[in-house]
Amino acid sequence: MKKYSFLFSYFKKAKILSLFFLMIISSVLTLLPPYLVSYILDEGVAKTSIETITYCSIFLGFVYICSFAVNYFISQNLTKTSSYFIADLKNDLFTKILKLPMEFFDKQQTGYIFERIKETESLNVFFSPVFLKFVTSIVSFVGALVLVCSIRWELSLILLLFLPIIYFFTNHSSIKIKKASKALLETTAQTSGKVQENIGGISAVKELKMENQRSSEISRQLKQVADKSVKRGKMMNIASEGIVGITNFASVLLIVFSGIFIIKGKMSLGNYWAVSQYALLIFAPIQLLASISIMVQPGIAALTRINELLKLKTEDEICGNRQVGKIDNIIFSDVSFGYSEKTVIDNFNMAISRNEKVALLGKNGSGKTTIAKLLLGFYKDYSGSIRINDIEIKNVSLLDLRNRVGIAAQNIVLFSGTLLDNIRFIAPQFDEHEIISALSKAGLDISEFAGGLQAVISENGKNLSGGQKQKIALARMIIKNPDVMIFDEATSNLDIETSNLVKQSIHTIFADKTCIIITHDPDMASLADTIIKI
Ligand SMILES: Nc1ncnc2c1ncn2[C@@H]1O[C@H](COP(=O)(O)OP(=O)(O)OP(=O)(O)O)[C@@H](O)[C@H]1O
Ligand SMILES: [Mg+2]
Repeated sequence: MKKYSFLFSYFKKAKILSLFFLMIISSVLTLLPPYLVSYILDEGVAKTSIETITYCSIFLGFVYICSFAVNYFISQNLTKTSSYFIADLKNDLFTKILKLPMEFFDKQQTGYIFERIKETESLNVFFSPVFLKFVTSIVSFVGALVLVCSIRWELSLILLLFLPIIYFFTNHSSIKIKKASKALLETTAQTSGKVQENIGGISAVKELKMENQRSSEISRQLKQVADKSVKRGKMMNIASEGIVGITNFASVLLIVFSGIFIIKGKMSLGNYWAVSQYALLIFAPIQLLASISIMVQPGIAALTRINELLKLKTEDEICGNRQVGKIDNIIFSDVSFGYSEKTVIDNFNMAISRNEKVALLGKNGSGKTTIAKLLLGFYKDYSGSIRINDIEIKNVSLLDLRNRVGIAAQNIVLFSGTLLDNIRFIAPQFDEHEIISALSKAGLDISEFAGGLQAVISENGKNLSGGQKQKIALARMIIKNPDVMIFDEATSNLDIETSNLVKQSIHTIFADKTCIIITHDPDMASLADTIIKI
């Protein structure tokens, strides 16, 4: 239970208490009608008192109206609480995921992560009216049991006898259903990962004529989802029908015994009517518990998975908090690193001083981009040492580090929005003229875009050319203005004119910057003071 305690932080205590109070009122209100009807039958109908019938019926109507009003208010509040709770939890989960270390993203497909955030939606089951009814039914249960006892204690014993049977049956079923739910969630998340991958890579799917092959792979996955869903559905049906069967059997026994008591004159017909109604209230929590524990299993499975995610440590929690100050030197000593068991960088050494221009050369896959990622603090489990201003990078505050190291990346990421949005988030204080000037330093002529800075960029810059995207990446780095600029094949897609412009900039506008130039272009490498081969 302790592992779900994080949930309480999402609710206001006063609100929960007031809802709980209303639920108790609602339960008391459900106890009144059987008593009133029994009174009308015995004192009104049997004794032909029209007055008793009239007054008691008016009171009964009033009780029903109050009950409706209280229940309506509770349900409305629960719907509202549920919607905001899910939105808040989803937002926290999304924020948490964004702050997780790169290893998490390396291992998971985007669609899989997306689906895991979406799992929060299954938690709305905890706010369903059935759940509310269960809380109120516990109070009614106690009241009904006391009232049946006061009529004929033997009958309450018969009713109580069935409770452990129902409990064990429910418990057994819900364990199985929870397991099946977890398996279903995992398969669904994996399938979403695959679907997203195919839509994201649609141009490759089309060009390689893989539509049918990819679709049959997804169809296999979807079949697995359906199989697991059927398996869980079967378990849920057996469980809920079983409970109905057990309680029906109990009702039969109740009728038999009540009949005997009535014949022996130990009970009135009115009493029997009340007991039969209270029997429903006594069985209600058990029946509800059964259907709830079956119904909430998917929610509990989701909760367990959400809790697993929330417990993961964010980058900020595992990094240090030391401020590096303006970067004067970077030293890699005997650095080895691999994403998995396979070593990518083996005993790598590099020393860079302030304003130095260093070219990093090497074959495809030799680890150049990986070195840039290590310098940005994306991975911590390297061996050897990476020191910036003599501070081990693991101990540096990530905020400070990433403000001081910038990259024009090989794989540029653009967000859907305008051209201005894609640059402005780096430096909200910049006006449009400063942004246009940075773009032109990166060789990007704003008139190339219909709409200028307001030109719409679609997800991941799908509507831009490779060169245009590269220019935006360069402009972003110019605006970010870090101490260390990493150019990861930043000119590979540029036309000769723009490429020359960037090359010139290395010794003019970037003269007072430390530059790491990752390139396969000998011209670009020749601009560097030092060439390091990896
Ligand atoms: N996120 C990752 N997870 C697992 N392996 C990775 C990951 N990124 C890169 N690799 C592997 O690490 C090795 C080095 O990759 P890296 O991107 O650093 O090479 P590179 O020198 O930049 O190559 P290129 O010149 O092609 O850009 C490659 O073998 C690659 O397959
Ligand atoms: Mg690379």
